[in-house]
Order: sequence, then C-alpha cells, then structure tokens
Amino acid sequence: MDSEWINIGYLISASLFIFGLKNLGHPRTAPKGNQYGMMGMAVAVITTIAKMQLGEGIQWVLIVAGIVIGSLIGYIMAVKVEMTGMPEMVAIFNGFGGAASALVALSETWKWIDYGAPDEGLGRTVAVVAAGLSALVGWMTLTGSLLAMYKLKGGIEIFGKWIRTPTWGPGWLNPVKALLMISVFALIFLSVESPTDKNYIAAIIGISCLLGVILVLPIGGADMPVVVSLLNSLSGIAAAFTGFIIGNSVLIVAGSLVGASGLILTMIMCKAMNRQLFDVLFKSFGGSDKQELTRTKVGSDADEVAMMADSAQKIIIVPGYGMAVSQCQHQVKEFADLMTEKFDTEVKYAIHPVAGRMPGHMNVLLAEANVPYEQLIEMDEINPEFPECDMAIVIGANDTCNPAARTGEGPLAGMPIIDADQARTVVIIKRSLSVGYAGVDNDLFYEDKTMMLFGDGKAMMTELNNAIKDL
Ligand code: TAP
Repeated sequence: MDSEWINIGYLISASLFIFGLKNLGHPRTAPKGNQYGMMGMAVAVITTIAKMQLGEGIQWVLIVAGIVIGSLIGYIMAVKVEMTGMPEMVAIFNGFGGAASALVALSETWKWIDYGAPDEGLGRTVAVVAAGLSALVGWMTLTGSLLAMYKLKGGIEIFGKWIRTPTWGPGWLNPVKALLMISVFALIFLSVESPTDKNYIAAIIGISCLLGVILVLPIGGADMPVVVSLLNSLSGIAAAFTGFIIGNSVLIVAGSLVGASGLILTMIMCKAMNRQLFDVLFKSFGGSDKQELTRTKVGSDADEVAMMADSAQKIIIVPGYGMAVSQCQHQVKEFADLMTEKFDTEVKYAIHPVAGRMPGHMNVLLAEANVPYEQLIEMDEINPEFPECDMAIVIGANDTCNPAARTGEGPLAGMPIIDADQARTVVIIKRSLSVGYAGVDNDLFYEDKTMMLFGDGKAMMTELNNAIKDL
C-alpha cells in the first residue's frame, strides 16, 4: 500500500481516538466514545497489516490467530465480569497493555541480536533508549498492575494483610525504589554501547518487574484508584515509546493520548481524595488497620423510614460501594419513581467522584437502571442542597460521607465528602455498623437524626419500596 494511504489510515485512526476520548468525558456520550475508540483501533490494525505487505503463509496464520484469541479473551472477560469486578479488570488490562508494548520492544531488540544493531550515532541512541524505557515502563506496569489487581480483590491469602495494606516498608523502601530506578537508567545508558548484550536486557527486565512490585506494594486502601489510573497512564507511555522503536506513528499518538488522559484522571482522583500524587507513591496511607467499633445503634425498619419519606419534599440518594455489591440500582430507581409518582417528591442522586471502586462506578450502575443523567449530580454541585433536603438516603456508602474526613487526622483526613449529615433526616442502608474501605468508624451512624436500616441493599430497598406502596 502507498505510504500516503498508510498515513491517511493512521490519521483517521488517531482522529477517531481523539473523538472517542472527547465523548468518554460524559456518561451520556461514553458509549459513543467507546465505539469511536473501537473503530479507531480497527482502522489502525487494518492499516498496519496493509503496511506489512505480507505474503502468503505463516505470518497470516499468526495474525489471524492473534486476533481471534485476543478477541475471544476480551469478549469472555467483558461478558463475565461483575460490575464489582470492573476495577480488577481495568487493572489487568493495563498490565496487558504494558506487557504488549514491552514484548514488542523486546522483539525489536532481539532482531538486533540476530541481524545487527542500528549503526552507532543518534539513531542507535534513540532506538536503544526508547527500547530501554519501553521495557522499564512496560514490565513495571505489568507487575504493578497484577499486584494492584490482587490488592483490589482483597489480597492474596498467603501474604494476607501484608500485601493488602501499607503496614510496613515505605520508610526504607523509598531509597530502594530510587536505587533500582537509577540502576535501570544506568543499564539503559550502558546498553547504548552494546545493545545486543543479553545480560543488560535481562537485568533491565528483572529490575523493572521488581520496581512494579515494590512501587505498588506499600500502597493500599483508599489510594488504589489513583494507582490504577496511574498504571493506565504508564501503559500508554510504554506504548508511545514502543511506537518510536518500530516507527509507528499511530502507536505514538494512541500511547500519548492514553498516557496524558490517564495522568489527568490520576490528578482528578488525587483531588477528589485530597491527596498529592507524591504522597500516594511515597508515603504510607490508605490501608491503615480497621478501627475497632465500640458504639452501638438500634436499627430502624422499612415502615418507619417509609413514614418519614412520606412527608419529604426533597430526597437525595447517596450511593456507594454497597449499592454495587448488592446490585440494587433497579430498586433504587423504583424507589425514586414511586416517590415522584405518589408524593411528587423531588429526588436527586449525589455522586462522589470516588464512590465505589472505580471512577464513574455509580454513574455506570445508575445509567444501567435508566436513571436520567440530569438527576446524577456531582458532589460539589449537590453539597449546598443538603441543608434544604428533608431526607438523605445513603445506600452502601461509608467513607464518601464520613464526617471524620473534615478533621485533620486519620486516613480520610481532608478528603472532600458528600454533606449527607447536613440533611434533616439521614437514612443509612448497610448490613452493619462496620467501617468502609479506609477502615474509619463513621460518626454519622450514631447521630440522633440518623436511621440505620440494617441489611443487604437490595433486600432493604425492596422492603422500603413495598412499604411505600402500602402507604
Ligand atoms: P465504602 O467506604 O467502601 O463503604 C461501603 C459500605 O458498603 C461498607 O461500609 C459496607 O458496610 C456496605 N456494604 C457492602 N456490601 C453491602 C451490601 N450488600 N448491602 C448494603 N451495604 C453493603 O464505600 P464508598 O462510600 O463508596 O467509598 C469508596 C471508598 O473506596 C473510598 O474510600 C475510595 O477512596 C475507595 N476506592 C474508590 C475507588 C474508586 S475509583 N471509586 C477505587 C478503590 C477504592 P456493611 O459491611 O456494614 O454492609
């Protein structure tokens, strides 16, 4: 194929990626954004295959086999994944992305061993440095993502709490991280002179894998969203480096887009949790041991809550991780519909940026239940409405409305929260008084105006809906 057509193909592909990203910025347009992204990737793959000018034979078999196996794995994982398992899936896909880039870089380096390295000079320096950086970022992303996935799953039995929480390490681990990073840069520098030295290649891969593990190992608890989106950004950066090595412009563009957008998301997450990226990576936080519960609270029942709701003019629903666990978004929507139809109550939803276990977790669930987007209100916008709100119904949320965040102490200190405690009455639906993700007890449960509806989210919402229907 002519190089003009190749460039046009890549240009179309890059444009589709950019349109895709733009559309992913809002829940309403996100499905369209996904489709643009898929089309962009299809155009990139077809253009690249055309560029390769393959003859008949084994190369086609390999490419078709790769496409079929890759598509099957992606399809099965996407179909089987539970909404609560999405963050783990995103983490593992980031790891795959990093590994794919690192493997392509490695195969190029391997070619140098068989067919000779590029001639000395700027060209070789650029190729070797790009291959080294792709290996560093790619392998680090793979091992870091695998560990992040296990941490999100709740830890590996054999290591238990050690893997899950940052109860050790950061103090002396930071100099080790710095030392390993310097070693990789030194090895990359040395390999410019001898790019075909297998010892250098093996050492760069080994240290990069170790770096991924020890970077993620001390990070825990509430900082995991930041880590996952940072790893996402790294997988893009690895792809961009690989694009330089194999001279593929669309890989450079797509990798840079993923790298930049992942970094922006990381900064948004940090802001939502009132954290600095440096603190997340180099200071212990977020996985502190769970606080002991010393207080008790008598639970309410669905009939009691329904009676209170009957007279409410405005209700704000605050969803959290427990709504995802119990999959009660449809019952929540039914409740909102019942209240609007029966009592003309105004119902809105307060969305905290890190409610649940991944960015946009609550939006996705509520969109699945056909809740209109206009009713999903971001934290900063909805918070001023709580003092005028008759009832806040907190469904499986804990950290994101824990007033302890307003104090200067503890793992939640400084995290912006939903002001549910400012509502006239607060109803909290969860199974017990137990702590949330950050392990901090919640004073809101014990306030006089708070009614605890103890039980599984779906069961409690169904009971509440039945009680409302009976009124
Ligand atoms: P959490 O603070 O994690 O609290 C969720 C609550 O849901 C728990 O206290 C639990 O209490 C309850 N729950 C669990 N299963 C339930 C069920 N079947 N029915 C009813 N309730 C159930 O949730 P949140 O307020 O959404 O805060 C999210 C936290 O996760 C933040 O600390 C955030 O930093 C962190 N995080 C967020 C992300 C992203 S990107 N969103 C990713 C990783 C971590 P019971 O056990 O008593 O039922």
